[in-house]
Amino acid sequence: MSIVTGVTVRVPAKLNLQLAVGPPRRDGYHDLVTVFHAVSLFDEITGEPAERDGITVTGEGADRVPADRDNLALRAAAALRAVVPGGAPGVHLAITKRIPVAAGLAGGSADAAAALVACNELWGSGLSQQQLMDVAAKVGSDAAFGLLGGTAVGRGRGERLTPALAPATQYHWVLAFADGQLSTPEVYAALDRLRAREVRRDRQSPPRGVRGASGERGDGQSPRAERLSPGKERGPRGIAQPDLDAALMSALRSGDARQVGRALSNDLQPAALSLFPALRKTLAAGLELGALGALVSGSGPTCVFLSASANRALDLAVSLSGAGVCRSVARATGPVPGAAVVPPAG
Ligand code: C5P
Repeated sequence: MSIVTGVTVRVPAKLNLQLAVGPPRRDGYHDLVTVFHAVSLFDEITGEPAERDGITVTGEGADRVPADRDNLALRAAAALRAVVPGGAPGVHLAITKRIPVAAGLAGGSADAAAALVACNELWGSGLSQQQLMDVAAKVGSDAAFGLLGGTAVGRGRGERLTPALAPATQYHWVLAFADGQLSTPEVYAALDRLRAREVRRDRQSPPRGVRGASGERGDGQSPRAERLSPGKERGPRGIAQPDLDAALMSALRSGDARQVGRALSNDLQPAALSLFPALRKTLAAGLELGALGALVSGSGPTCVFLSASANRALDLAVSLSGAGVCRSVARATGPVPGAAVVPPAG
């Protein structure tokens, strides 16, 4: 019998190619329809047997990651232990971060997904991917996607996933990391405030067509008004339930980066921009430099740009770093697979 002494798992960051947000729910969350897309920016976690659970974090933004039981990866390990028949021993998790913290790239959820894969292997618990995804959903809204990877439609809080059947197109992304962070709950709260203001304005004046705090598009052009548009089923606060964007899905099916670039959208973007106005400059700079589409990633503040090719992405990355509109720049391709064990060397 071989004794497993350490398991290393690599897990990708995610972008949201569409993020449509419904009205707030009673539990404080928002119903979403989102298109997740995993990209080649990876955190790595090594799980090793230990007397008691513990964690060390190194790498990008490590000092801002809680190194105690609040850490999502440790919470994931505890949540897995709770469903393993007969329990499981302690684990030490060593996280090497490359995904920036509180950047809208689901780094914390990714680490939770990686911890689940590592502990499942280390403890020989034998849970299926679906069972791990059920555990992941309890730990964070984006954690289940960290296990799945690829491109997938998320509903509910984002945890109910359907893989998107898209051709094997590789998309070339440039990520502009901001000098600062945004808190996800604060960005959702800002969106609720912007929308409440808009609903009040709408009630005071007749409908006025396309405008508003809903869904800025990846081409930097007109904002979308579907959340408040006439004819849509409205929720209790005058906000429509979110819908999957047919134009984006058709663009993904065609594998045409130009179409995908035009169809990128994020309802949280106006809220993120209201809290972090400097991001407008970053988005505008990327579009001026030829990106096919630009948007704030998730709740931000990372801005992402789609390029037509690896060479264009390199040019854009170099020009963006020279433009002084962000802290640093990285290139990534997607889609990539979800959390997976890294085979031991040799
Ligand atoms: O699930 P997670 O811990 O990643 O969510 C962080 C916060 O983001 C939640 O506490 C909530 O304020 C907000 N959120 C939301 N609706 C979602 C996902 C997250 O309001 N679908």
